[in-house]
Amino acid sequence: MKKAILGIESSCDDTSAAIWMDGQILSNVVASQEIHQAYGGVVPEVASRAHQENLIPVVETAIRKAGITRHQIGAVAFTRGPGLMGSLLVGVSFAKAFALSLDIPLIEVNHMQAHVLAHFARDPKPEFPFLCLTVSGGHTQIIVVKDYLDMELLGESIDDAAGEAFDKTGKLLGLPYPAGPKIDQLAQLGTPRFKFPEPQIEGLNFSFSGLKTSILYFLQRQQKENPAFIRENLEDICASVQDRIVSILIRKLRKASVQTGIKRVAIAGGVSANSGLRKSLSENAETLGWTVFIPDFEFCTDNAAMIAVTGYYKFLAGVFSNQTAAPLARWEI
Ligand code: KG4
Ligand code: ZN
Repeated sequence: MKKAILGIESSCDDTSAAIWMDGQILSNVVASQEIHQAYGGVVPEVASRAHQENLIPVVETAIRKAGITRHQIGAVAFTRGPGLMGSLLVGVSFAKAFALSLDIPLIEVNHMQAHVLAHFARDPKPEFPFLCLTVSGGHTQIIVVKDYLDMELLGESIDDAAGEAFDKTGKLLGLPYPAGPKIDQLAQLGTPRFKFPEPQIEGLNFSFSGLKTSILYFLQRQQKENPAFIRENLEDICASVQDRIVSILIRKLRKASVQTGIKRVAIAGGVSANSGLRKSLSENAETLGWTVFIPDFEFCTDNAAMIAVTGYYKFLAGVFSNQTAAPLARWEI
């Protein structure tokens, strides 16, 4: 009998389980924790507790939706890190217990490596080598992907992640958390007429904290003259912020492409859902001859399908974990 791989993801505030079998994703179930909206950001303790409540029903649903039984699962792949310690602990403990009870192997997965390998969940799959810009609420990285399990970090954010830049701007504008999707929606109705400075960071690293400060000072100045400034200009402010974040990302991506000579360019992570980023990538593809890869939306944000896919390639390579594996809050790709 052919065996399936169960993927478990619990690194932040999404509880997810997925089944990979016969070279495809059969199910990918995600329970998002709306509760954090009330706090304007993810509260680690609350996230951990919600994972404990959600994980078992999410796994049961993933198995049922895949149309298999527990006994057809041949390995469990789980996110070992990076992420929130309390959140990771729930997924890691569950994966270990599940593997022990069925006497099947455990495969630990790096969440950032999994975001990249989300591109292999469905066609079209990129050929190696390719560049991947991974942009999420916690990370901003440019990676050269040489093979499934051979990746090199070229640059990353030295402070805030791109998603954080969206979310923190949203907080200043009074938008609910996470603000990225809302800013994207409003930006499409506005004009980027406010010019925010581009950070001067050497090489392929990023910085977004200066942008956040300049937006804060800009809003304070404008509101002093007109207290209704945000309400009256919300769409244009969102368009301007999005335009700057996208231009920062694309400029470094172009630099990485020139430096490496690689013209296959992929994006991953929650911010890869952004319409401005997608549009700018397509424009660059035309002018620079890039081949661009953007995963389906369900594989962009945190999900267990990407964990199961990564687990599959580690399974093929014979790279297994064991019952002593502990969560890692930080873990280089
Ligand atoms: O990868 P992800 O789901 O979780 C993390 O690992 O962080 O990414 C979440 C981030 C949040 O910051 C959210 O605001 C952002 O992705 N995001 C977006 C969009 N959709 C999600 N940012 C900009 N535009 C979007 N359409
Ligand atoms: Zn993520």
